Amino acid sequence: MQVRPYQTDDAARLAIIFYRSVRVAGLKAYSQHQVEAWAVSVPPASFYEQRAGDGRILLVTINADGEPIAYGDLERSGHIDHLFCIPEAIGTGAASALYDRLESAAHEWGLGRLFVEASELARPLFARKGFETIARNDFMMRGAMIYNYQMEKFLRR
Ligand SMILES: CC(C)(COP(=O)(O)OP(=O)(O)OC[C@H]1O[C@@H](n2cnc3c(N)ncnc32)[C@H](O)[C@@H]1OP(=O)(O)O)[C@@H](O)C(=O)NCCC(=O)NCCS
Repeated sequence: MQVRPYQTDDAARLAIIFYRSVRVAGLKAYSQHQVEAWAVSVPPASFYEQRAGDGRILLVTINADGEPIAYGDLERSGHIDHLFCIPEAIGTGAASALYDRLESAAHEWGLGRLFVEASELARPLFARKGFETIARNDFMMRGAMIYNYQMEKFLRR
């Protein structure tokens, strides 16, 4: 298992990771109705190409065969927007290793604070990494009530 920067030909694979992660793994904490609203369809490759070029850091965990199994990003503001892992690799540390690399990048950028809207499934990972839960967000997403947790971590500079 290795973490590396996003490459252009990863886009289609990351889109599938997102979709399967939400639609399959998401069911451990959310209803069918909720995961269908969260991941309506497989995002187009252009979604990732655009994000990779907007100044954020976008990293990918690959398995021993070089196949992407998880990905995550960090925006310049300190916001972690995406962190997704294929269902088969959840509980193997793929997301944990990826998070650690995002935090290293945050230190390199001199950021003082990281923040995330963590799903029920991501909350334990972020808590293990030292994030505090500030609030629970209950909101409507494409016709489904859903929730996540506002979490933050202050970094020593
Ligand atoms: C959120 C998500 C990426 C977290 O993935 P994860 O695999 O649970 O997270 P980690 O990589 O930290 O793995 C943690 C588990 O792996 C175990 N593990 C095994 N080897 C490990 C290693 N080398 N390093 C760290 N953890 C390891 C840990 O003990 C832990 O097990 P536990 O949950 O039974 O305590 C994943 O649940 C997911 O994709 N969920 C669906 C989509 C989603 O909710 N995304 C978040 C949006 S904010």
